[in-house]
Amino acid sequence: MKIAVCPGSFDPVTNGHLDIINRASQIFDKVIVLVSYNPNKQTARFTVKERIEMINAVIGGFPNVVVDCDSGLLADYLTRTKACAIVKGLRAVTDFEYEFQMALANRRLCPSAETVFLTTSPENMYLSSSMVKEIASLGGDISGFVPSQICSAIVERLHKDA
Ligand code: PNS
Repeated sequence: MKIAVCPGSFDPVTNGHLDIINRASQIFDKVIVLVSYNPNKQTARFTVKERIEMINAVIGGFPNVVVDCDSGLLADYLTRTKACAIVKGLRAVTDFEYEFQMALANRRLCPSAETVFLTTSPENMYLSSSMVKEIASLGGDISGFVPSQICSAIVERLHKDA
């Protein structure tokens, strides 16, 4: 069975993430959406539990997709789950250097897994979780950026915090 891991912060999951998850699910037998720890992003607005709940709410249509979380090294998780691939979405050239560096490090740490980059769909080129949080916090409309099932939950939560 070919298992792929889609790792990320998912704070929160966006239409861009969902597009990549959907496309990965058509290539691999099983896709694990992994809510991972990014030491460079210490200011998450949603708890890991909330992020998992939101992902679960939007992956119902994909029978071979599951969600998990991990606070350790991605390479160790890949080894434990016998995953053969890390799937990441690439938006613009600005993503490339960071993603390339991580792909090389992960390859060194877990040579049995390949990093597979899927190019973003053009409508999601500019989309990021940070942008969604900023727009929602300032009262803007995020309905075009996040799955409809979780839109109001994100808005309520970020308004409550503001
Ligand atoms: O959505 P993000 O925050 O850009 O995703 C980055 C993430 C979480 C995939 C990356 O920080 C990661 O893999 N974290 C797990 C810890 C780890 O393995 N770090 C070394 C990466 S080479």
